[in-house]
Amino acid sequence: MARKFFVGGNFKMNGTKESIKSIVKGLNEAQLDSNVEVVIAPPALYLQLAQDELKKEGVKVSAQNVYDKPNGAYTGEISVAQLKDSEVEWTILGHSERRTVLGETDEVVASKTKFAIDGGVSVVWCCGESLQEREAGNTVAVVERQLAALAAKVSGDDWKKIVIAYEPIWAIGTGKVATVQQAQEVHEAIRKWLKAKVSDAVADETRILYGGSVNGKNCKDLAKEKDIDGFLVGGASLKPEFVDIINSNL
Ligand code: G3H
Repeated sequence: MARKFFVGGNFKMNGTKESIKSIVKGLNEAQLDSNVEVVIAPPALYLQLAQDELKKEGVKVSAQNVYDKPNGAYTGEISVAQLKDSEVEWTILGHSERRTVLGETDEVVASKTKFAIDGGVSVVWCCGESLQEREAGNTVAVVERQLAALAAKVSGDDWKKIVIAYEPIWAIGTGKVATVQQAQEVHEAIRKWLKAKVSDAVADETRILYGGSVNGKNCKDLAKEKDIDGFLVGGASLKPEFVDIINSNL
């Protein structure tokens, strides 16, 4: 089955009302490959602004995180119901910055993923190894451990609402992109794991994105690999070259 190319822009904790309006205007006016699904993830405070400004078919807004409890006394959190109320259909979960800086465990990420899906919000679920783990030869073991925690919580059609983003931590925001071969190897390992532990269909249909210093120049070669189905872009999603990344296959 052909998997639709997917490009996410994770603005992280960046932007102002003016800069986000300007990025969205750029996307509204750009010629984008119609075969690509695009989501942009501004900080929570600007989700509604981005949603209101966005006029481009094929581009949607995503949260960067969501809580795994119904509305209630959870100061500082945002609920799945609130995302739905604001017509936000996507969230990123398990980004390494939340895992390492904010202490989210594999189990917390998996629980949030299940809660989001059950509430009707699709998930860009992130995984990836540190430099130390790669140098110790543990890359695939780390990613498989993260996947196993996810698979313990989700099942069946849940997988249709998950896009996996492989993001080696050492490549995030460093300008040190994984080589095409390094990325493809891990993507292939993820797909093999899905085939062995979940099902042939999930292995075949789940999009696996690469994230980590993707830019307008390196995206084309990465996009050619058979198991790379798109990108999760940080820094470059704030710049005009995000359009070149969306159009990697043109
Ligand atoms: O979510 C995006 C990734 O963390 C990649 O960030 O493109 O700035 O390296 P980056």
